Amino acid sequence: MAMQNVQSVPAELSPEALESAAQLVAEAQADFDRVMAEDSRVEPRDWMPEAYRKTLLRQISQHAHSEIIGMQPEANWISRAPSLKRKAILMAKVQDEAGHGLYLYSAAETLGQTRDKMMADLIAGKARYSSIFNYPALTWADMGAIGWLVDGAAICNQVPLCRASYGPYGRAMVRVCKEESFHQRQGFEILLELANGTPEQKAMAQDAVDRWYAPSLMMFGPPDDDSPNSKQSMAWNIKRFSNDELRSRFVGMMVEQVKVLGLTLPDDQIRFNEDAKKWEHSPLDWNEFQEVLAGRGPCNAQRLERRRQAHDDGAWVREAASAYAAKQKEQAA
Ligand SMILES: [Fe+2]
Ligand SMILES: [Fe+2]
Repeated sequence: MAMQNVQSVPAELSPEALESAAQLVAEAQADFDRVMAEDSRVEPRDWMPEAYRKTLLRQISQHAHSEIIGMQPEANWISRAPSLKRKAILMAKVQDEAGHGLYLYSAAETLGQTRDKMMADLIAGKARYSSIFNYPALTWADMGAIGWLVDGAAICNQVPLCRASYGPYGRAMVRVCKEESFHQRQGFEILLELANGTPEQKAMAQDAVDRWYAPSLMMFGPPDDDSPNSKQSMAWNIKRFSNDELRSRFVGMMVEQVKVLGLTLPDDQIRFNEDAKKWEHSPLDWNEFQEVLAGRGPCNAQRLERRRQAHDDGAWVREAASAYAAKQKEQAA
């Protein structure tokens, strides 16, 4: 896409200059529309409509926040994991999530927002992240249920994002999805081992699945009728499937996998609708979803407080890295 940066036009330009600037914007918009129609990619240097940039910035930064807040419920279990092998695996998974956050903050930065500002918004409680991470991880089996259900839902959501029209986002998603597959398998394997263990272990696995099932279905966002921005995101080739389509696909995957585990999903209304060719499930409690999103979930305050604390504790690292970078620059000059 050969485009120029014509996002802002100084007010003092002559009428002729304004007219040619307007022409440039029209040409850039036509170019953008062509890229959308061809389903090719927009790169950071390209002109893009302001609404597209803002939508992406919101989505990618929220996604980045979810990755790093999502480290908390699991990091909390590293020291209590039942064996050295389990500790090592869980630690690797939590580190992967930190990496996902970094790729995504970098992708968001290409849209003109600094990482400092994104982090400030998060710790001030102004930015959103996935509601799922405001639920507590109560037992070791929760590490299995989170990996299997939460990372599983993340994969369903994120695989189509590998084809997102914004280049840096789509490319970040490719690696993220590979790692998420590992996360889901390790969760499944924890549950499988517990489900084949003592009756108490099997009950613990079932209890974890019972608690994480509905919140994981809500990860796909509100029902299509209540998701006004989805249509535009689909027109911009950011989103490829609606919230309900992805949720239905996820239920279809889980309903088969749970049989291998020898466990059940806490929903007796799951069935495949032959006419609509989709999986159906019992209604979800969207009031609970809105409450958690509004900051009134079981762990919202705790998650933000922990993030603030980690940010403060890491101040010396940021200062040292900046001082080192400045020194390198000085030496290179
Ligand atoms: Fe992740
Ligand atoms: Fe993950």
